[in-house]
Amino acid sequence: MNGAMVQVPASQLKDLHRSAQGMLDLLARTPVMPIIWIHEADTAVGVARALVEGGVTVFEVLLRTPAALQAVEAVRRHVPEATVGAGTLLCAADVQRALDAGAQFGVTPGLVPDLAQAAVRLQLPLLPGVWTASEVMSAMAWGFEALKLFPANGLQGVQQIEHLQGVFPRARFCPTGGIKPEHIPQYLALRSCPTVGGSWVTPRALVAARDYPAITALARQAAAFMSARSA
Ligand code: 3PG
Repeated sequence: MNGAMVQVPASQLKDLHRSAQGMLDLLARTPVMPIIWIHEADTAVGVARALVEGGVTVFEVLLRTPAALQAVEAVRRHVPEATVGAGTLLCAADVQRALDAGAQFGVTPGLVPDLAQAAVRLQLPLLPGVWTASEVMSAMAWGFEALKLFPANGLQGVQQIEHLQGVFPRARFCPTGGIKPEHIPQYLALRSCPTVGGSWVTPRALVAARDYPAITALARQAAAFMSARSA
C-alpha cells in the first residue's frame, strides 16, 4: 500500500473524524474484543446474550461464513445492549454489506484506498489492520488512529507495539491473531494498547454446541482484564 498516494477529499474530513473517533471510543469500552465465527445464524443471539451477561458488550462477527451478515442483523435486532462489528472487510462493497446488516463498526486485516474511502464516506467506525510503520502511516493519513495489529502471533506483537508507539504516540493498537489469555496482561500494560482481540472467548466448539453458560464464564474472565490496563 502506498500512503503517499492517499488523499482524503476535504468534503469528507468531518465524516473521517467522526468514524475515527467512534472506534477509539469503542476500544476504550472493552479490554478484550471477542472475534466470533458464526456458522449457524440462529446461534448469534445466544452468543451475544452470553457475552453481554459476562460483561463484554463489544465484539466482532467475522464475515467469513455465509451466515455472518444474518448473524449481525439478528444481534442488532435482539440484543440492543451489544455493539456488534463486522470483521474481515476487504473492499468497499464489504463496508456497504456490513452497514446494510446493521454493523456498528468494521474491522479489516489491512487497508486499501477504496475500503478506507468507503468507511469514511459512509461513516463506519473502522479498525484497520496494520503491522509495519508504513501501514500505520497510511492508516493515519486516512485519519484512523485505532488500529488492529495483525497478526500479533502470540507475544510477537508486544515488541512491535513497543516500537510503533514510540513513533506514533496518537495511535492505539488492538492486537489480534493467535493471542491467548495468558498473553493479555503484557499487552494491556502497554500505554497504547487498550484492547486485545481474540476468538478464545467464543471458541468455535462452544458456539457450535450452543454452550452459552461456558461463553459467559469466558466473557467474565475477559471483562476482568479491565483492571490490567495501564491507563
Ligand atoms: C482473525 O482475524 O483471523 C483473528 O484476528 C484471529 O484471531 P484468533 O487467532 O484469536 O482466532
